[in-house]
Amino acid sequence: MKVFPSLISADVLDLRSVISKLDPVVDGYHIDVMDFHFVPNLTWGPQFVHALSKATSLPLHVHLMVTHPAKWLEVLELRPHDFFIFHIEACDEKQTESLIKAARAKGCKVGLALNPDTVIEKIVPFIGSVDKILVMSVTPGFSGQEFMPEVLDKVDELVALREQQSAAFVIGMDGGVNTKNISQIRKKGVDHVAAAAAIFSAHDPVKAIADLKGC
Ligand code: DX5
Ligand code: ZN
Repeated sequence: MKVFPSLISADVLDLRSVISKLDPVVDGYHIDVMDFHFVPNLTWGPQFVHALSKATSLPLHVHLMVTHPAKWLEVLELRPHDFFIFHIEACDEKQTESLIKAARAKGCKVGLALNPDTVIEKIVPFIGSVDKILVMSVTPGFSGQEFMPEVLDKVDELVALREQQSAAFVIGMDGGVNTKNISQIRKKGVDHVAAAAAIFSAHDPVKAIADLKGC
């Protein structure tokens, strides 16, 4: 299982040094984009995401907690190994389908995120055409919230669906991941976890990542 640091809780005035320390020990970064509308918080814009993609050659998993993800796709400069991950709750079926196609046409990877209270049935029509399903284990908006164990059942459903439909998406989990719950998450079959507080509120983030991987 891969661990993606979510930079929302890093020292934002010192991100270049954070990235240079973490690059050797991670597979990429989770970038939380919030618009103060889809969620009650605001983070980074396209220029910032672009600056990050110049500061690391590793993939950026750009998690868009925004009301108009299609507009963001137009302005984000994503590389072939970056992920454009948008929320199923922000789009109707038609919009979801066309946004997946548009992201593909842009040449990046595509992911769909779902909130804790959104049922798996909503994303079933799209599982054959995305690279990642991101299961939210907190209500999106803030780092440092408590993990919601009830969402683990969705991972069982996704693992079964992936097998039944010979789909190729990876399963991600995001929110409240820490050393107490990560082994349970891994056992369920999650491929990627995002973690902010568990890494950046630790004294040594590099050690915190090793601790998460070692659980
Ligand atoms: C929540 C964000 C998460 C968050 C995770 O809205 O999507 O990615 O940064 O933070 P922790 O790991 O602190 O719950
Ligand atoms: Zn996130």
